[in-house]
Amino acid sequence: VTKIIEIDSEHIDKNKLNIAAEAIKEGKIVAFPTETVYGLGANALNSAAVERIFEAKGRPSDNPLIVHIADKEEVYELTESISEKAVALMDKLWPGPLTLVFRKSSIIPSIITAGLNTVAIRMPEHPVARELIRLSGIPVAAPSANVSGKPSTTTAQHVLQDLDGKIEMIVDAGSSRVGLESTVLDMTVEPPMLLRPGGVTPEQIEEIIGHIEIDKTILERLNIDNVPKCPGMKYKHYSPKAHVTLIRSRNMDNQVKKILDLAKNKRQEGKKVGVCATDQTINRYGGYEVLSMGNRDKPETIAANLFSILREFDDMGIEVILAETVDEDGVGLAIMNRMIKAAGYDIIQAD
Ligand code: TXA
Ligand code: MG
Repeated sequence: VTKIIEIDSEHIDKNKLNIAAEAIKEGKIVAFPTETVYGLGANALNSAAVERIFEAKGRPSDNPLIVHIADKEEVYELTESISEKAVALMDKLWPGPLTLVFRKSSIIPSIITAGLNTVAIRMPEHPVARELIRLSGIPVAAPSANVSGKPSTTTAQHVLQDLDGKIEMIVDAGSSRVGLESTVLDMTVEPPMLLRPGGVTPEQIEEIIGHIEIDKTILERLNIDNVPKCPGMKYKHYSPKAHVTLIRSRNMDNQVKKILDLAKNKRQEGKKVGVCATDQTINRYGGYEVLSMGNRDKPETIAANLFSILREFDDMGIEVILAETVDEDGVGLAIMNRMIKAAGYDIIQAD
């Protein structure tokens, strides 16, 4: 049985949190809150413990894990060399939702990096995450705390839905603020390369270190207007049980009209349809199950809700989700990256 430990972020009970820290030290795996999503943590210096993370998640062993630290100084013993640009980013954006990829030092077990000679490191901002890492006194390897392929978890309840009985403990400190995973930036190449858009935007990074490259697989997919159906399970990620289709247009009214058309067809086929809308459009889908991702003018609200809404549609027994899209600037790039993957690239252009 998975044990739940509730911690108040504003008044951290260190004695209580220490139970989780001891578990990590002993090689057990513990889910814990971060400002992005919940993580599934283990002692990063213990290969056997790290192996259990892969098992619990059903994660393919060729997908490397992020190492989480409590203090900036810890980065030096885990890596070979740190560029000036990396130092500048660490100064300005750590702690926070930014993961940096460096050449790894020999103390990092190869199971964490899936055999790569680089390691991804992040210093989370969430006070409970930092205190937990500090109390355990070791770097903590942690992927998102979900079953592989499903949407990441932003509450302890979601972690329990996915991993009950498979992990020792969950530290519950309420909902994650950002709602999407950290930005992953490869610092081993010049210019640095964005591998995964996330809580920190490319604009914020470029303001500090100038131009960065953006991994083509993020952009190519986003720039294609009429993408055919999902090329294969290989690309599926962040997926609820329902089939997700994105309806894309810069024009909100066209999106709504197209979704209403498709919803009608799907319902006639006997499917249970859910509409993934925004605060601006939620009232326009009368007669259908509809949830709002958040406010289009405040994309951070959409980031915060996206994964939990996908899970809510599953709880409602929805079979087909028709989802609006948002602009791709700022945190919108990360939102659209996750939505496109959740949809397995099933995107329909509304105009
Ligand atoms: O916000 C987050 O980053 C959350 C919280 C728990 O910190 N963690 C997270 O971990 O999202 P995960 O394992 O779900 O995603 C880690 C991503 C994967 O896409 C992985 O391929 C990439 O980081 N990654 C890890 N190590 C890498 C490396 N050495 N080089 C390139 N990419 C790496
Ligand atoms: Mg993940």
